[in-house]
Amino acid sequence: MNSNQLTESQLKAYAEDGYVLVPGMLDPKEVGMLGRTAREDRVLDQHSFGRADGEGGTVRLSLWNHPTETIYGMIARSESLVGCAEQILGGEVYHYHSKMIMKDAKIGGAWAWHQDYGYWYQNGILFPDLTSASIAVDKATKENGCLQVIRGSHKMGRVDHVLTGDQAGADMERVTKCLERLELVHVEMEPGDALFFHANLLHRSDQNKSEQPRWSMICCYNAARNDPYKESHHPRYTPLQKVADAEVLKAGTKRFGDNSDSDAAWLVAEKDTSATSLDKQA
Ligand code: SIN
Ligand code: MN
Repeated sequence: MNSNQLTESQLKAYAEDGYVLVPGMLDPKEVGMLGRTAREDRVLDQHSFGRADGEGGTVRLSLWNHPTETIYGMIARSESLVGCAEQILGGEVYHYHSKMIMKDAKIGGAWAWHQDYGYWYQNGILFPDLTSASIAVDKATKENGCLQVIRGSHKMGRVDHVLTGDQAGADMERVTKCLERLELVHVEMEPGDALFFHANLLHRSDQNKSEQPRWSMICCYNAARNDPYKESHHPRYTPLQKVADAEVLKAGTKRFGDNSDSDAAWLVAEKDTSATSLDKQA
């Protein structure tokens, strides 16, 4: 793992743009291990669920609330990743959840424009003091539906969200107007790159009509001081046990499917995430 600390200019870019791309957060060996492990993880697969994208496709993802002892957990708990989240949020953070976005070749669905805080707001979180680290498992390109962001849109604050398909999407009148003033950026990424983005950054992605899968793992962190005031399907403040970066490789192929029933217990069932109400969106 690339021992990482964000520089002053990266932190400035995050504050200004609402995101910062950190190339090579995971080295090729680590991200190769992550990809192989995830694709062979039967339990991860069995817990995946779909959500209609309103464009005739379906997104697929698996989601878990506590980081666990798996390779996924070692990444989410690693000093480098957590350290960057702490720099961004200005203090102690805890793991809010992680998810594997499984945008499969040919059939991977689209994500509608949204802000994560558009729905996390419903979970009793008072401030948008959360950040997500999206780690490219596969190379992400325009062709396979890479993440798109509107640069600087986090400065609009929270926009109203409504259901589109099964997904909670941002009010499109606002998004359209915002796109007339701010830049739309396709965030193309190499495997192992990490994109940190603000909870109020507008983002979406296209369907994957290409031959290449586009999986990514997103680790979401909340500031410890921003403990939700009520229970929801994601955890309230829970101290995060950081690990040395070297633990990622040591975890090897440790996955939900291996003798780790206690880890698998943290996978969130579809019924608890379905977006029949906005507060249950991932
Ligand atoms: C998300 O917003 O959780 C996923 C978006 C993507 O990776 O395409
Ligand atoms: Mn999102």
